[in-house]
Amino acid sequence: MYFGGFWGGIVQPDPRNSNRSLCSNVLIRGNSRGIMHAMSQSPTPSASQNSSNLSFRARFLWMASATVVTIYALILVGGIVRATGSGMGCPDWPKCFDRWVPPTAESQLPDNYQVIYANRGYAETEFNVRKTWTEYLNRLLGVFTGFTILLTLLASIPFRKTDPMVFWLSLSGFILVGVQGWLGSRVVASNLNPGMITVHMLLAQVIVGILIWSLLRATVQPGSNNDLLQLPRWVFPVLVAATLLGLLQLVIGTQVREGVDLIAKQSNNENRHLWIDNLPLAFSVHKWLALPLTLFNGWLIVDLLGRTQNALMRKLVIGLAVVLGATILMGMSMDRLNLPAFAQPLHLWFASLIFGIQWAILLVMYQVRQPSPHDEQAHKNLQPNHAN
Ligand code: HEM
Repeated sequence: MYFGGFWGGIVQPDPRNSNRSLCSNVLIRGNSRGIMHAMSQSPTPSASQNSSNLSFRARFLWMASATVVTIYALILVGGIVRATGSGMGCPDWPKCFDRWVPPTAESQLPDNYQVIYANRGYAETEFNVRKTWTEYLNRLLGVFTGFTILLTLLASIPFRKTDPMVFWLSLSGFILVGVQGWLGSRVVASNLNPGMITVHMLLAQVIVGILIWSLLRATVQPGSNNDLLQLPRWVFPVLVAATLLGLLQLVIGTQVREGVDLIAKQSNNENRHLWIDNLPLAFSVHKWLALPLTLFNGWLIVDLLGRTQNALMRKLVIGLAVVLGATILMGMSMDRLNLPAFAQPLHLWFASLIFGIQWAILLVMYQVRQPSPHDEQAHKNLQPNHAN
């Protein structure tokens, strides 16, 4: 994968190894082609030091990006599992019908499987191969995430010397993915308790947030001299407010979903056209909060696009506009078309992307505002004891 595409192909030297003049117009570090190009012009330091720094950074970029992509895929597949009612497709955990590879036909199950799994909702439910395999694929993707986060953690080890925060963030992500796996088993054990699903979903957002943080921390150069530093001071607190509003909407959305789950259960998954009119008050709040949230973000998006030419920031802001529009479109489809199953996972997925992008914008803004290693060194040089 060539990261320059997403990162806007900006030339990126590593600030710890390169001379300041080279850093004058950069934002991202870790773009392998960019660093190579920059290093070829830099008189300092040794080429081998730079290339080893490059390789561990590039490796981390690869792994952390793959993990973020995998977790978003998992959020989408998790939503599909719920919308298709496949959550109990595997009544036990970690095995599925007590097998590592689930059955493909009812004949492969014991005759009394409905008795065995009666307390898991199978008393009157028959085996459904589509649901079982949908849930199983969800679990496989979960295991795959376990591997990618482990590799991300390993790739972060060299950062312990240069920027330990990257390592600690990766370690937290790794531990939380383990907790999430355990929580997944609790969700199944609770017969898909709506509150447990909410905690499971919110933890997924926390994990992806931590990984985006480690990714940007390892790649965005502190104190880089670009037009993001010229933005007015009020932009940052306003962005924080927009992100908090987005989070509030996300949490209220989970309450709407819990309401949908309750009605679905009470109505035995029938009469779908009646569900939307019987949702709790949270649904009205959720719908109306979407209006100020959209206006607020829309204004911020237009304002930021007018103020910055930074390639990464523009991509994030345009991405935010797209996923905001898509979330609302899916929300309105559910409202007008009686909760079509296809819109449920997509609504959750786009809403999760809103949070991820808002968080990434905040982190980029925060990171570039940090003093660069060069500035810190210059500050130290001005200290009286240094002068002596
Ligand atoms: C930017 C605005 C919005 C955001 C960030 C947002 C976010 C969310 C989230 C996170 C959920 C929980 C999904 C889950 O846990 O599976 C949800 C559920 C829901 N939202 Fe929204 N939403 C927004 C706008 C809207 C609008 C405008 C409508 C309707 C007009 C709407 C209708 C719904 C419905 C019906 C549910 C329940 C979905 C289900 O049962 O799967 N949302 N929303």
